[in-house]
Amino acid sequence: MIRVRGISKTYQMGNTLVKALDGVDLHIPQNEFVAIMGPSGSGKSTLMNILGCLDQPDNGSYQLAGEEVASIDDDQLASLRNRSIGFVFQTFNLQARRTALENVMLPLRFSNCPKVEARERATQILSKVGLAERAHHRPSELSGGQRQRVAIARALINQPEIILADEPTGNLDSKTTEEIMNLFHHLHQQGQTIVVVTHEDEIAQHAQRVVTLRDGKIKEDKFND
Ligand SMILES: Nc1ncnc2c1ncn2[C@@H]1O[C@H](COP(=O)(O)OP(=O)(O)O)[C@@H](O)[C@H]1O
Ligand SMILES: [Mg+2]
Repeated sequence: MIRVRGISKTYQMGNTLVKALDGVDLHIPQNEFVAIMGPSGSGKSTLMNILGCLDQPDNGSYQLAGEEVASIDDDQLASLRNRSIGFVFQTFNLQARRTALENVMLPLRFSNCPKVEARERATQILSKVGLAERAHHRPSELSGGQRQRVAIARALINQPEIILADEPTGNLDSKTTEEIMNLFHHLHQQGQTIVVVTHEDEIAQHAQRVVTLRDGKIKEDKFND
């Protein structure tokens, strides 16, 4: 599914170079549930952005769903990304003036999906994340956990092969965090591949596998019992 070999990424900050990733090898097979941990600044978001094809490494190779990401053109990359990846962010990134349902439908706007079908699919996915009754509410009328569930539904609408979530519970209290992790757990049991960045040990317990980064390198890669 995801195969990364020897990737590095250096940022320039004024006159200094910051090595955000330094020779990372990672293979994530289909239907795995992986937690990425590590201190702030260890390269977690840089790795997620590369896995999500939002950024490219300076060196090394990245194969997503059998395709070498560096060798395909921008249009193909956009299409591969839409088909393969669903993103969930810490800050939800919902459109304030749209309802939950409309937010979930957004990724289908540029596909050939007819509007009636888009609405139907979005409704189904909202009920899958337990939000059927909130479909016509705007984000401001929803709790943090409900907003994140809308964002997860939006990430799922294109039936992506993999969900990438960068600190999805960073803005949520512990009870809501538990709810969101149970939802990921449930999606995983239905066959979804999930990579989630987290600071919290309890969250990592939900995953099958925990990859720990430090200074841009993989320090530990272990499977939970
Ligand atoms: N766009 C950027 N420009 C300059 N430096 C960056 C940029 N993004 C990340 N970095 C630096 O790269 C390192 C890794 O950052 P990041 O991947 O965001 O870590 P994490 O998500 O683990 O906190 C940090 O030292 C950070 O300051
Ligand atoms: Mg980060």
